[in-house]
Amino acid sequence: MTALDPRALRNAFGTFMTGVTVVTTRDAEGTPLGFTANSFSSVSLDPPLVLVCLANSSKNYDAFAGGKGFAVNILSEGQKDISNTFARPVADRFADLDWQDGPAGNPVIGGVSAWFDCTLHSAVPAGDHVILIGAVQAFHAEPTPGLGYARGAYVTPSREVEALEGRTEIMVSALIKQDDRVLLVGAKDGTLSLPESRAGKEGVSATLARLIDATGLRAEPGFIYAVYEDLRRGCQHITFLCEAEPGTPAVGAFTDLIPSTLMDINDPALCTMLKRFADEARIGNFGVYYGNESRGQVRAIAKGVN
Ligand SMILES: Cc1cc2nc3c(=O)[nH]c(=O)nc-3n(C[C@H](O)[C@H](O)[C@H](O)COP(=O)(O)O)c2cc1C
Repeated sequence: MTALDPRALRNAFGTFMTGVTVVTTRDAEGTPLGFTANSFSSVSLDPPLVLVCLANSSKNYDAFAGGKGFAVNILSEGQKDISNTFARPVADRFADLDWQDGPAGNPVIGGVSAWFDCTLHSAVPAGDHVILIGAVQAFHAEPTPGLGYARGAYVTPSREVEALEGRTEIMVSALIKQDDRVLLVGAKDGTLSLPESRAGKEGVSATLARLIDATGLRAEPGFIYAVYEDLRRGCQHITFLCEAEPGTPAVGAFTDLIPSTLMDINDPALCTMLKRFADEARIGNFGVYYGNESRGQVRAIAKGVN
């Protein structure tokens, strides 16, 4: 077998887009330790397990592989500096950091998208790394978008959108889902659309907050689901995917994305996006349990409370 070129292999591995985490523990003296890792993966829900791979060359190998446990902190988009600090040989990586002990005793960092505080389930040697498997004892998650990483560079979609603000006209829409249904509102011309508005001076985030507010629902402002050129309106269009808590909307209605509903959506770009959403959410199971709803019924549901 021909030897694989390690650099080319590393580059090929790097095409897999990931998030960025900081994995922390305390050594035998109680000193907090941590390193940046993108090798995180969830493993099991029952029992709740996660994993992260640590290089055998790590100066903190013993503390992690032979310790009581570790916490995985999923960095948010604004935490590139923290990622860099925990990837470089900095004397005290915790200096100037907002952190506290998690319920299982490992450092959890403020402002992260989520953290998982774990006891060490097992440490499995694997080539030049060790796979640290953690049993999740406690966790916490926020709607804050996560920091992405691909091909050796950070990926920050929400920040890029912010950079667009002020330079170009932006249309904002909210793809608000409740279970498998999506909130559709009736437009004046009788067609269906998402709650949407041009982003004014207040900016994209405030426009999204206003859109959610107008529905009367409790929903977290979610992450960017799609960014596209809105040819009909001649502007950039950003759609955010938001999860709504149980409740009835003050405008429109939660609707199954069945083909007859999609036919009532006039905007071809929106129609394509919702088809994609239905496919991705595997809710396009037409005719099985949505089979009894006629097109008219769906239209009435969607527009009735508008
Ligand atoms: C985005 C990113 C992801 C990384 N992922 C890992 C990883 O999964 N496992 C690992 O051992 N090192 C990873 N590293 C490298 C370590 O963070 C880096 O080598 C660090 O200096 C190790 O510190 P230590 O020797 O104190 O453990 C990553 C670095 C970056 C910037």
